[in-house]
Amino acid sequence: MSFSIIGTGMYVPPKIVTNDELSKFVDTSDEWIRQRVGVERRHICTDETATDLACKAAINALENCGCAPGELDLIIAATVSGDMASPSVSCMVQRRIGAECFAFDINAACAAFVFMLDTAAGFFKRGRVKKALIVGAEQMSKIVNWEDRGTCVIFGDGAGAAVLEAGDGYVDSVLTTKGGDEVIRIPHFIGKSPFSTIRPQEPYIFMEGQETFKYAVNAMCSDIRKLLEDNNLTADDIALIVPHQANKRIIDLAAARLKIPTEKFYVNIQEYGNTSSASIPIALDELNRSGRLKRGDLIVLTAFGGGLSNASCIIKW
Ligand code: UT7
Repeated sequence: MSFSIIGTGMYVPPKIVTNDELSKFVDTSDEWIRQRVGVERRHICTDETATDLACKAAINALENCGCAPGELDLIIAATVSGDMASPSVSCMVQRRIGAECFAFDINAACAAFVFMLDTAAGFFKRGRVKKALIVGAEQMSKIVNWEDRGTCVIFGDGAGAAVLEAGDGYVDSVLTTKGGDEVIRIPHFIGKSPFSTIRPQEPYIFMEGQETFKYAVNAMCSDIRKLLEDNNLTADDIALIVPHQANKRIIDLAAARLKIPTEKFYVNIQEYGNTSSASIPIALDELNRSGRLKRGDLIVLTAFGGGLSNASCIIKW
């Protein structure tokens, strides 16, 4: 026994920032960003934080399936841009939505949504929970260096959530870590200990764009090949692939290498940019609400990012 996704929700802040607006304070252009990344606009927090976005996405997901907060047995959340180191985002969601179950966060950057599903699968398998809420929420605008055109044009803010219920909708997964901080890192504030000899680093996202790009394409291709092979499936058996929205060119290149038509890959990066742990649940919610998912459809979720980590799974809708 694993779980099935019975509800989805998302929330993005109303403020939209276009590529042209960015090009007023950083040396870039709408043309470059569209061509090299695929982003046209992103939603950016003004008076909201990651916790606010998380709660709104969570409430939308619960309403989507008519689940009351009191029915939840577990909440897992993920963020790299939360308001506080403690309490975790999941604990704040638990209180604000009026749930009573236990709650904890995981840290797996942009791959976190699949890591959360896999973690939840263990609780379902042990019969420990009957309903769970999974939330990815990011205020990336807080941790990008707005003077670094290599990162600030890519990211956006948002949250996505899913409600899981005991069922047979989690088919298989593959989780991979290649630990290291050379390619992507987000340093924490190091404190002010009078005894520390460690030099502070700027508390912004650092990313070697091209290295990350290569890692991402290879990760998506190897994960999808393995999932199909291990489950005796071909791409024709898969209704849709929902990739982490990091760069449209990453998705196109992976599709070409896998010889899978690009139409099978869901893309919404043009609207939101890269919302890290929120990107896959936001995409799932858009698909769910637009009626593009049919019960029984096999869907591949595939994510990669800081860690470095990549995680992909097959779900049955
Ligand atoms: O979610 C976490 C995972 N993250 C990712 O998967 C991101 C993966 N990486 C990428 O998406 C791409 O590497 C970037 C979008 C970050 C960069 O695109 P790129 O095609 O790899 O550009 P590049 O770093 O090779 O730079 C090419 C040129 C350089 O100029 P020169 O040296 O050729 O004159 C850059 O300085 O583009 C320049 N450039 C820009 N120009 C205008 C870099 N950023 C910009 C910019 N606007 N925003």
